[in-house]
Amino acid sequence: MTGLLAITGGASGIGRGTVKRLLDDGWTVIALDVAETGLADLRKTFAAHGGRLHTRTCDVTSPESVAGTFAEIGRTFGHLNGLVCSAGVLKIGRLESMAVEDFDQVFSVNVRGLWLCAREAMPLLKMAAAEGELARVVFLASIAGLRHKIDSGAYAATKAAVIALTKVLAVESAPFNVLVNAIAPATVDTPMVRPHMQPGNNSNYRTSGTSPLGRIAAPEDIAAVVRFLMSEDAAYVTGTVIPVDGGTTAAFVPPGAKI
Ligand SMILES: NC(=O)c1ccc[n+]([C@@H]2O[C@H](COP(=O)([O-])OP(=O)(O)OC[C@H]3O[C@@H](n4cnc5c(N)ncnc54)[C@H](O)[C@@H]3O)[C@@H](O)[C@H]2O)c1
Repeated sequence: MTGLLAITGGASGIGRGTVKRLLDDGWTVIALDVAETGLADLRKTFAAHGGRLHTRTCDVTSPESVAGTFAEIGRTFGHLNGLVCSAGVLKIGRLESMAVEDFDQVFSVNVRGLWLCAREAMPLLKMAAAEGELARVVFLASIAGLRHKIDSGAYAATKAAVIALTKVLAVESAPFNVLVNAIAPATVDTPMVRPHMQPGNNSNYRTSGTSPLGRIAAPEDIAAVVRFLMSEDAAYVTGTVIPVDGGTTAAFVPPGAKI
C-alpha cells in the first residue's frame, strides 16, 4: 500500500534520499523546504516519476507558512497518508559560549517547526486513517538525542525533545490509528555535516562515534527505515525511536582499542 506523503527538508540529505526511495516505491510525494533552489533541483532530477513529485516552499519556523501549506495540501489532496519531518539545522558550540540566536534557531527549526508540521498535518492523517488507509508520522531525531556529545549540546537537547514529542504524540494519536515513530541516525553523509568533515576544517564538529561497520551512514540507509515505518509491516510499531547507527552506540570501544 502506498499513498500521499509530505516530507519537510525534502530538498537535501536524508529528506532528499527519502523522496527518492518513496517515489521509487510508488508513493506520491510532496517535498517541503525553505530552499527553493533545492526544490527546483528535485523537480528536475525526479521529473520522470510520472508527476508523483510535488514541491512546496515552506518555512517550518513560521506558523503561517506551515498552516498555509497544509491547508493547501488538504484542499488539493483531501488527506495525507504520511508525514516525515526531516527539516533540521545543526549548530555547533559549547553551551557556555553559544549565541542566543543560534540556540533559538536550532529549537525553532528542530522542535517547534517539527511540532507545527505534525499539528497541521494531523487532521489530514486522521482523515486517511478513518478511510482505512495508512496514516504514519516519522520524525528525524538523532543518536545525539539519546547519547549526547560535547560541542553540540543545544542540538542534542532538540533531539531529546523530538524523542519526547514522538512518544507523547504516538499515544495521543493511537486511538485514531495514526502511528508516530522516530529514527535516530548517527552521522549521515549529507550537506549538514559534510563541510565539517573536510580535511583541514577546524570546526568543532565530531562524528557520533565510529561504527563497527567501518563507514558512516548514507541517506539511503535512513530512507530504508523510513520506508519500513511507512509500510504495512510496521502496523504495530508506534512510539518507538529506532537507532540507525551501524552499532556505533551498542558497546563502548575504548580509544585505541581494536575491534
Ligand atoms: N546528517 C546527519 O549526520 C544527521 C544525523 C542524525 C540526525 N540528522 C537529522 O536528520 C534531518 C535531516 O538532516 P540532513 O543531514 O539531511 O540535513 P540537510 O542539511 O542535508 O537537510 C536539511 C534540510 O532542511 C531544510 N530546512 C532547514 N531549515 C528549514 C526551515 N526553516 N523550513 C523548511 N526546511 C528547512 C534545509 O533547507 C535542508 O534542505 C535533520 O533533522 C537532522 O538533524 C542528521
